[in-house]
Amino acid sequence: MKRIGVLTSGGDAPGMNAAIRAVTRCAIYKGLEVIGIRRGFEGLLEGDVIPLTSRSVGGIIHRGGTVLRTARSERFKKPEGQVEALDRLRELDLDGLILIGGEGTFKGAWALHQRGIPVVGIPCTIDNDIEGTDMTIGFDTAVNTALDAVRKLRDTASSHDRLFIIEVMGRRCGFLAAQVALASGAEYVLLPEMPFDLDHLCKKLHYARRQGKTHSLIIVAEGVMGAQDLAAKLKDTAGYEARVTVLGHIQRGGSPTAFDATLASRMGAHAVKALLEGESGIMIGSLCGQMVTHPLPVAWEEKKPLSDEVLSLMEMLSI
Ligand code: F6P
Repeated sequence: MKRIGVLTSGGDAPGMNAAIRAVTRCAIYKGLEVIGIRRGFEGLLEGDVIPLTSRSVGGIIHRGGTVLRTARSERFKKPEGQVEALDRLRELDLDGLILIGGEGTFKGAWALHQRGIPVVGIPCTIDNDIEGTDMTIGFDTAVNTALDAVRKLRDTASSHDRLFIIEVMGRRCGFLAAQVALASGAEYVLLPEMPFDLDHLCKKLHYARRQGKTHSLIIVAEGVMGAQDLAAKLKDTAGYEARVTVLGHIQRGGSPTAFDATLASRMGAHAVKALLEGESGIMIGSLCGQMVTHPLPVAWEEKKPLSDEVLSLMEMLSI
């Protein structure tokens, strides 16, 4: 193996740059040439590439976003797009590819693996919804970004004796919402994994008031419903007036935490090692602090479960 490519794809996440840096420097350290592919699979189809050197990935470990930029490619999902990508990879003379992203990225990586390209995936998404790894790169930073905002909202909620509804990201999963709710001491959390129960929520709010609580925080994952819709439902059903904040894409930006920069560096190094050892069609994971590998389909065939401990703890601590 002489020359490898690296790309970031799907939603960006803090720590992507730290992973690009680690892949590039570890590969160069081991005598490989590294090519950066811009804008994920879309850039691959267009042959939009740039040589990466130890110096060109300097000064990026602390930066949010991705210097390679990212995209969601509809073209690449089709078999014709994948055949075209193979032609580009041959023209670029790449012996292997490291792909940094979430489930969609891994499905694309698997398609290339099945067509004979050696690939390794690095899990990087603020959603943390990839089985086979305790944490994805970016999740810890997003939790802390959202937590910082929720703590500020708590200040004003408590000053004014108000009910706040805060919408966090998570179209299909509630890892971010659950963790933020637990860490912020919210009264209630709504997750895509759990049926929405308006009656239970109203009872909980009534109970909180009777217990002498003067303000309350509800965290809702965007996949359940919009915070405005929830506020309207609470008003219509129980007369509650709620203030609403939608945190949105702010959760995807910012410098990676120490945890994420470290995880990205370790996973980047492990991905290069795996590729050099002849592995392909795999993802890197971190389980109990150890770097591990799994076949890529683990990422979408097995649903990562939310921790029952976190959920029951929330119930206990929000009385
Ligand atoms: O990065 C993951 C995620 O943030 C989801 O939680 C969210 O639903 C989605 O991406 C939104 O992404 P975009 O705005 O890029 O479509």
